[in-house]
Amino acid sequence: MEITIKNLDHTYMPGTPFEHEALKGINLHIESGKFVAIIGHTGSGKSTIVQHLNGLLKPTSGSIQIGEYLIEANKKNKDISKLRKHVGVVFQYPEHQLFDETVESDIAFGPLNFGLSKEQVQKRVAEVIPLVNLSEDVLKKSPFDLSGGQKRRVAIAGVLASKPHVLVLDEPTAGLDPLGRTQMMELFVTLHKAEKLTTILVTHNMEFAAMYADVVVVMDKGKILLQGSPEEIFNSKDLLKQIGLDVPQTVQMAMMLEERFDIKLPKHLFTNEKLVEAIVKLLEKGGE
Ligand SMILES: Nc1ncnc2c1ncn2[C@@H]1O[C@H](COP(=O)(O)OP(=O)(O)OP(=O)(O)O)[C@@H](O)[C@H]1O
Ligand SMILES: [Mg+2]
Repeated sequence: MEITIKNLDHTYMPGTPFEHEALKGINLHIESGKFVAIIGHTGSGKSTIVQHLNGLLKPTSGSIQIGEYLIEANKKNKDISKLRKHVGVVFQYPEHQLFDETVESDIAFGPLNFGLSKEQVQKRVAEVIPLVNLSEDVLKKSPFDLSGGQKRRVAIAGVLASKPHVLVLDEPTAGLDPLGRTQMMELFVTLHKAEKLTTILVTHNMEFAAMYADVVVVMDKGKILLQGSPEEIFNSKDLLKQIGLDVPQTVQMAMMLEERFDIKLPKHLFTNEKLVEAIVKLLEKGGE
């Protein structure tokens, strides 16, 4: 689904001493089926943007078009459940997402609400549990008795169970161990490719942004500072540094090697494997 955000402003608690302008003039176009990473320092407005995508927050001014659905400031959101059927948001804090008595009913909530039969819902639950690497033992437990990583997996399963067309992931791997993080990202990438899911990932992990995104959006103090391909964005090391961000470690290493040996390396070295490959090529050339 195509997403167009126009002149979006969001002010929290307007007219109170706590008034805070969190988003200022956001314009963003996301083509259907793309993978977009949103990066930016803490408090730059990433979660505020993504909570507009399923109508959880309303624009103070501006508009958001998601497929056929238009959200505008000062207008009532009609049929918001229709939008939520298409746009699944995994919140930054799983506790904000989980609410039901058992894991099973929590995961089943979305599809039941969107009108699936009990049998269909049971099937969906059974499908998503192994996808997020949970065991069936947790189904009867309260989601609040689980570890942080398990809660995260249940929250993700609940969103996937509704089979959304747009998957919005706000720091979805926080609280998982390194293997869990990689597996979860692989699941998102597989779904993105197999189902042509428009995927929006908010992350502090520059490696993930670099490796998986078609487009990287850089937020700074409620505004979009930069947007472009990972190559373009991570070429702007100094600008990113100024706003407290960094480039992926492999890019840092490549830059150090370029300086040290006065050589040029390719620009898209976002994994260890690619960096090693580029160094091997250089060494081979040197030996000729
Ligand atoms: N419910 C709220 N009420 C008032 N201010 C808020 C609220 N939620 C967020 N803010 C403020 O809005 C700004 C943007 O917050 P947001 O949560 O969007 O940042 P973020 O980029 O997601 O940060 P992080 O990386 O820490 O998750 C921050 O200054 C924050 O303090
Ligand atoms: Mg956030």
